Amino acid sequence: MLNQLESSQASAYPEIIQGGMGAGVSNWRLARAVAERGQLGVVSGTALDTVLIRRLQDGDPGGHMRRALAAFPYPALAQAVLEAWFIEGGRASDAPYKLKPMPSAEMLREDEALLIVANFVEVYLAKAGHDGMVGINLLEKIQLPTLPSLFGAMLAGVDVVIMGGGIPLGIPGALDRMAQLEPVEMRLNVVTSDRTKIYTTSFHPGTHVSASQAQLKRPLFFAVIASDILAKTLVKKANGAVNGFIIEHHNAGGHNAPPRRGDAYGERDVCAVEKVAELGLPFWLAGGCASPEGLAAARAAGAIGVQVGTAFACCEESGITETIKAEIIQRHRAGTLEVITDFQASPTGYPFKRVEVEANAGRDACRACDLGYLRTVYAKEDGTLGYRCPAGPRKPFLSKGGTPEEAEGKHCLCNGLLATIGMGQIRRGTAVQPLVTWGEDMRFLNPILGQERTSYAAGEVIDYLLGLK
Ligand SMILES: Cc1cc2nc3c(=O)[nH]c(=O)nc-3n(C[C@H](O)[C@H](O)[C@H](O)COP(=O)(O)O)c2cc1C
Repeated sequence: MLNQLESSQASAYPEIIQGGMGAGVSNWRLARAVAERGQLGVVSGTALDTVLIRRLQDGDPGGHMRRALAAFPYPALAQAVLEAWFIEGGRASDAPYKLKPMPSAEMLREDEALLIVANFVEVYLAKAGHDGMVGINLLEKIQLPTLPSLFGAMLAGVDVVIMGGGIPLGIPGALDRMAQLEPVEMRLNVVTSDRTKIYTTSFHPGTHVSASQAQLKRPLFFAVIASDILAKTLVKKANGAVNGFIIEHHNAGGHNAPPRRGDAYGERDVCAVEKVAELGLPFWLAGGCASPEGLAAARAAGAIGVQVGTAFACCEESGITETIKAEIIQRHRAGTLEVITDFQASPTGYPFKRVEVEANAGRDACRACDLGYLRTVYAKEDGTLGYRCPAGPRKPFLSKGGTPEEAEGKHCLCNGLLATIGMGQIRRGTAVQPLVTWGEDMRFLNPILGQERTSYAAGEVIDYLLGLK
C-alpha cells in the first residue's frame, strides 16, 4: 500500500520543501502559506506544547488556537487544555509564563494529552482551507515528547514526517503502528555505564482515543541526512519504510551534522549525492539552495527539488519577531551579519548556527533549566533515570555526573529560541534574551526584496525559486 502511495506520488512530490524550523519559526501560518501554493509546508513540532500554552496565556489573539481546539476530535482533552492555560485578554506583559512539567520518561497522561492536542492544533491550522501537503519536523535528539507529538499530528492528517538531528531508526515503524492505533515502544538514548541495558519509552494511543477511532493515515517519512552512509543505514536498519531524504549541507541554519574530523568542515563532509540517488528514493537538497539556479542544480543531480529554510525564516509569515527579522535584513544589507557555526552552544553537542542580534548583545547566557527539552537522560546508580542539561545551572549539572567541559560555552536553546519568537520567559522582571539560529546563505535576499522594501511574503520566495519573479 505504501509502495503504491510512493510510486503514485513520485511525480506529484512538490519541488520545494519549506524546512521545519524550531521552535515556532515554521509555524502553522508559514506552513499554510507554502502548502496553499502547492509546495510542502512544514510546521516545527519542537516544543509545541509550550508554544501552545504560551499562545493561550497571551490571550490567543485572533482566536486561532481556540478554533483549532474546537476541532479536536476528543473535546474533553481540548477543553482541559483550554481551562488549564487560557487567559482571557492575555497575561500581564511583565508576568512570567506558567510552566508545564519538563518532559520525562514517566510523563503523566495529561502531559501526553497536551502534546497530542498541541501537535494536532498546529497541523490542523496549517492544513485548513486548501488541499496542499503539510509536514511536521521533529528532532531525533529530543526523544521524550516524540510519540505523542507524532500521534497528535497524525490525528490532524499530517502528510509527511521529517526528522533530523540524529538517526531516527525507530520512527518509521512507530508511524506504522500508530496509524493502526497500536501501542509503540521506542528506544531511548540513555547515558549509562551498563551498555547491556536497553531503555525505552512507550505510548499507547488507546489511552487517549476511543475504541471506535478509525485508523489513521500513515504519513510519509523523510530523514534529514548529511552522509550517504547514514542514508544506507536508515534504509537497511530502520524498523519501517523510509520514504525519502533531505540531504543537508553544513551551511544550513539550525543544528548541523558534526564534521567527520575535529571542529572544521572539509570536503569529506559534503554528501555524495549520487550514492543517495542510487537508493532509488526521492530526495531534496538543502542548505544554500534558495535560488532558481540552486533548484535547477538540485534537479540536475537527480533530486526532486530543494528544502529551503533561511529565506522562509526571514519572511512575513515566520514566527520570528518583526524586530529580529528587520535587524537581520538591515545587518545583511550593511554587511555586518555574521553567522557563527558554534561548536559548543547546543546542549545536544551538535554544531549550531547562530547570529548575534541587538537583543542578546553583551548579556550573560541564561542558566536556568525550566523547559528541559534538551536534557540528557542518564541512568543513576540505582538504575532509575535522571535528567541533566549542560546549559542549565552548573552545580546541579555537575552533581548529576556532568563535567565542566560539557557545560563550557553552552546556551539555553529552549529559552533562547522561544524568546526569538516573542515568547521569552520573564525572570525577575526581565525577558530572557533570544538566541537566533540562521543559515549562512543570504543570496536570496536582494533578488526577492530589492533595495527599498523591508519585508516579503512566503509566496514571493516560492515565485523566486520557481523563476516566476
Ligand atoms: C531559523 C532556523 C531554524 C531551523 N530549525 C530546524 C529544526 O528545528 N529542525 C530541522 O530539521 N532543521 C532546522 N533548520 C534547517 C532547515 O529546515 C533547512 O534544512 C535549512 O535551513 C536549509 O538551508 P538554508 O537555510 O540555506 O535554506 C532550521 C533552519 C533555520 C534557518
